[in-house]
Amino acid sequence: MPLLLSSWEIEAILKGERIISFDLGVTYDEYEVIRKGSVACVEGVFCMPVPVLKRAARRRGRVYELVQEGNRFFLRHVAIRDRHFYQLVQPERGKPTTLEIDGIHMHRVKGVDPYTDARMKVEALGVKRGDAVWDTCGGLGYTTIFLLRSGAQVLTTEKDPNVLRLARINPWSQEMWRADVRNADAFHFVKKIPDKSFDKILHDPPRFALAGELYSLEFYRELYRVLRPGGVLYHYTGSPGRKRGKDIQRGVMRRLFQAGFRYLRREKKTEGVIAVKPRG
Ligand SMILES: C[S@@+](CC[C@H](N)C(=O)[O-])C[C@H]1O[C@@H](n2cnc3c(N)ncnc32)[C@H](O)[C@@H]1O
Repeated sequence: MPLLLSSWEIEAILKGERIISFDLGVTYDEYEVIRKGSVACVEGVFCMPVPVLKRAARRRGRVYELVQEGNRFFLRHVAIRDRHFYQLVQPERGKPTTLEIDGIHMHRVKGVDPYTDARMKVEALGVKRGDAVWDTCGGLGYTTIFLLRSGAQVLTTEKDPNVLRLARINPWSQEMWRADVRNADAFHFVKKIPDKSFDKILHDPPRFALAGELYSLEFYRELYRVLRPGGVLYHYTGSPGRKRGKDIQRGVMRRLFQAGFRYLRREKKTEGVIAVKPRG
């Protein structure tokens, strides 16, 4: 695994703190931190000019890879510029990272950290040991990790290879690889899944404006088909447009009902909807 430093750890190094993490807060170790004129060193790991470190520390939440060329070190921003701009971001020191795509966070970060957000979604779904669960939109794999920790057998699909690339190096994502992770578009992939394959489905899509097809009646009919009778769907919706009086969950619940789901209810704590495929 590469050595990763967030702006928060760099700030700590500049303050001369000795407890530093090179994996974004998953583990911490004690180091000798020394200043020699305008150079700062973490003994046994790297030395770098103080102005470079100060510049990196000013970008709050940014994540860097520590790269060595010969006996020189530099910091490479952990980001991918493609059709979209992707970066790992650490909202708080020592807490799990989130993924930002074109400036939009893929987890809730206000009031909860991304792991807590994922754990609450999994708890809302109510998973039992041995359940077969499909996590439709894998992202950094946090919901998958909590599904696995609940003892589920997990299939995870993620459409975007750039997201999987970042998940590969994100220390907080490493447990996800115990699941069956596929680089696939859930909207098309579902058509190949046999009827009644899953006990539960966790559907955590990007917001409606970015992926309308994942909120469509056509897709909901497929989710219904691949669930076993008695199976449960958790569907994160968020509340975009709430301030303008918009209620996205109403339309979602109407279409889920049309698809055959029953016992629909709003899951307020996580801004999601729960729906059940009735037995018989
Ligand atoms: C809100 S994030 C999911 C976060 C994830 N549950 C976690 O805990 O890390 C939504 C993800 O869905 C992915 N995505 C978008 N459209 C998709 C599709 N059609 N099929 C599968 N994944 C999709 C995005 O690339 C993004 O990574």
